[in-house]
Amino acid sequence: MGEPFYITTAISYPNGRPHIGHAYEAIAADAIARFQRQAGRDVRFQTGTDEHGLKMVQTARDKGVEVRALADEMSGYFKSMCDALSISYDRFIRTTDADHHRASQALWRAMAASDDLYLDRYEGWYSVRDEAFYDEKELVEGQGGEKLSPQGTPVTWTAEETWFFRLSKYEQPLLDFYAANPDFIRPESRRNEILRFVEGGLSDLSVSRTSFDWGVPVPDSPGHVMYVWVDALTNYLTGAGYRDGEMPHWPADLHLIGKDIVRFHAVYWPAFLMSAGVALPKTVFGHGFLLHRGEKMSKSLGNVVDPLDLANAFGVDGLRYFLLREVSFGQDGSYAADAIVTRVNAELANAFGNLAQRTLSFIAKNLGGALPDAGRAEVADGQLIEEVVVACAGFKAAFGDLMLSQGIEAWMRGVFACNQYIDAQAPWALRKTDAERMHAVLGTLVRAIRMLAITILPVVPAGAGRVLDLLGVEDRSHAAIDDDGWYARQAAAGFVLGTPTPAFPRLEMPAEAEPA
Ligand code: MSP
Repeated sequence: MGEPFYITTAISYPNGRPHIGHAYEAIAADAIARFQRQAGRDVRFQTGTDEHGLKMVQTARDKGVEVRALADEMSGYFKSMCDALSISYDRFIRTTDADHHRASQALWRAMAASDDLYLDRYEGWYSVRDEAFYDEKELVEGQGGEKLSPQGTPVTWTAEETWFFRLSKYEQPLLDFYAANPDFIRPESRRNEILRFVEGGLSDLSVSRTSFDWGVPVPDSPGHVMYVWVDALTNYLTGAGYRDGEMPHWPADLHLIGKDIVRFHAVYWPAFLMSAGVALPKTVFGHGFLLHRGEKMSKSLGNVVDPLDLANAFGVDGLRYFLLREVSFGQDGSYAADAIVTRVNAELANAFGNLAQRTLSFIAKNLGGALPDAGRAEVADGQLIEEVVVACAGFKAAFGDLMLSQGIEAWMRGVFACNQYIDAQAPWALRKTDAERMHAVLGTLVRAIRMLAITILPVVPAGAGRVLDLLGVEDRSHAAIDDDGWYARQAAAGFVLGTPTPAFPRLEMPAEAEPA
């Protein structure tokens, strides 16, 4: 087993069904998890649902259902979404799971043991939508003069007896930690935001609630449940086996989250962990928001799209490819049905899919599916392989550094090189005039296609997997990309290609209406 790599997504509130923003985060995390597995890391990948808190209580009340029933039903939709989108999680955690309650209480006790929790009265603003407390000075004014959170959500005045966490005590330790670990908060812009926030001074944080009971009970404090973010953040530790013995996957390598919740992950979470004497995660990456044609998604605008409708319309691979390719990871991005079709057709279906399909069906038809002989090599063959090796290395370097779209762009350069090579070498014409040369050209293309398919596997697992199945490639690790002996072994073993079917079908441009 390789070195551990622990990656997590945020856990979503199951107060409604998942939308494309949730799908985006899951897909990005999944591509990274698959990439690290290919690289030989011992990956643990966790996602799930965040089921406590006032937002869940209020939604259930509005719908006239029990909160547990709401959580069960909606959490099921999130899990089904993950399964439908080929999200390769190791655990789908629910914060209502029994081991999660145990871990949250253990973390609480550890913070109490450091004398970081005290009972007092909280009076201030709370946003149920964000499940967040805000200082008066952070609030903004709405159009009707009402007070809103900095995220533009309604706030209500709250006054109750609660437990406080001594967040102020961790102001300097946090600043020291950020300085010593420049990669803790990424990308850079989010890091700067957090530095400014912490430098502005930290007040102690209210960490329990008494006005409702849907949450993890505070140990030895009847009537108090933990503030939902305390137990939500602890999910990452629960999944690593906190207080159940060894934690080979802790500290987490990467908490992948949206830009709206960086403060919870980069300020509160490390402070809780410092207090409890637990090692801190290595990186918190705040990705951007997905917008629909540049607009925020909202129920009132009627532009909230079920990710499964998109996957049905454009294919799981198509959706995954589009989202990871189109959006520069870390920044906001926009999606629209016509943009998905254009991108998928140009790059997946035409550039790569067609390359594989043309080459493999030519071999199936003209060589009876047997891999071409060495033939008569020319300089151009070696040059192409070199270009593809560089493209795949570019993908690896960028993906390893979370620059997902740049990685795919590097990979595309390898695909374009193959297409230029095919046009220049015209193997179809060589069939009649120079069979020996045709063999060399086809053999070069098979090698190039194999390397490109292995490389893009984390992004489009189904289609790339189909190409590799056709080629009989069993070792799909990154190490296999540079394995020169593969072709010879495969040919010597008398490998025969089946009848290829397109791995990346062309999409139809939608009529006016987009999938609802
Ligand atoms: N429950 C909290 C997270 C707790 S993590 C310990 C939460 N849930 S959420 O359901 O509101 O959001 C889940 C994730 O989806 C967050 O990372 C959030 O940033 C992300 N997204 C929500 N809307 C999004 C878009 N429109 N685009 C991209 N990601 C978005 O916050």
